[in-house]
Amino acid sequence: MSDPTIVVTRRWPGPVEDELRRRHPGVHLSASDEPLGEDGLREALRTADVLLSTVTDRLSADMLLDSDVRTKFIGNYGVGFSNIDVDAAKRAGIVVTNTPGVLTDATADLAMTLLLMLARRAGEGERHVRDHEWSGWRPTHMMGADVTGKTLGVLGMGRIGSAVARRAHDGFEMPILWFDSFAGAQCDLPGARRTESIEEVLAGSDFVTLHMPGGDENSHLIGAAELKQMKPNAYLVNTARGDVVDEVALAAALRDGTIAGAGLDVFEHEPQIPEALTSLENAVLLPHLGSATTGTRIAMGMLVLENLSAYLSDTEPPCRVV
Ligand code: DGY
Repeated sequence: MSDPTIVVTRRWPGPVEDELRRRHPGVHLSASDEPLGEDGLREALRTADVLLSTVTDRLSADMLLDSDVRTKFIGNYGVGFSNIDVDAAKRAGIVVTNTPGVLTDATADLAMTLLLMLARRAGEGERHVRDHEWSGWRPTHMMGADVTGKTLGVLGMGRIGSAVARRAHDGFEMPILWFDSFAGAQCDLPGARRTESIEEVLAGSDFVTLHMPGGDENSHLIGAAELKQMKPNAYLVNTARGDVVDEVALAAALRDGTIAGAGLDVFEHEPQIPEALTSLENAVLLPHLGSATTGTRIAMGMLVLENLSAYLSDTEPPCRVV
């Protein structure tokens, strides 16, 4: 495809936009950084050969299978692609790529950040100081939970799950209990134990961290029944996708002490977060920062460009999803 029309849905880090402009001077970059919304995305699919999307762009079957669609390549800026109906994209003959690998460390670091913030009540402590409520050190003040030596449950032992397990095991001497429905998943950390079921991980862990894809297959995988299987002093960490957890059930479980706390970087209807969660002290809430380091966000963009240039030169994109 020579001289394709390229639309980028959001602002990307400066060096990536510069590189895009250098390679494709006619590229349509986002000026406003506002999500395009359904109408804007439909328009982009009608007019662009190449759509460079991100996790805030919901590309449904209805949109992708519209007879007016011109787009032949969607380069998604993100490892997760549950925002795109990839079966429909495939049926429409649209190539979809993502950005795995380059964000593994940043996201694993953020999962550990949430875990530590939860255990040591760091969000609460910060609010306490800034609200001028701190009256000084005392032996009983804001006691949290120990981390070292506690069991970490990992649901989803892919790249990011493995990186979190390694950090927890090597840095905090945490035994690892894990489950993955994919038979080929592996974890060779000493003492790590694979379970037959999610329930075993939930029941046996002091911290549970989620690392499965979002979308229909895992929607509300963690609901009221699963939360009840966790220990009352256990914590849940989600840096995967918001729809994996039933937020209403989670808020109830946090309120009534079914579990001790939850650290969430992702939400079902971002950027909306239910008041039932924002009002709780035992929830640590971050605005989808998993991959948000400058280096990682640049690497993600450059990987999209690598996928695109492979596609445009008729070779297999390195991170093709469909
Ligand atoms: C991803 O890559 O899927 C993240 O959630 C966005 O960084």
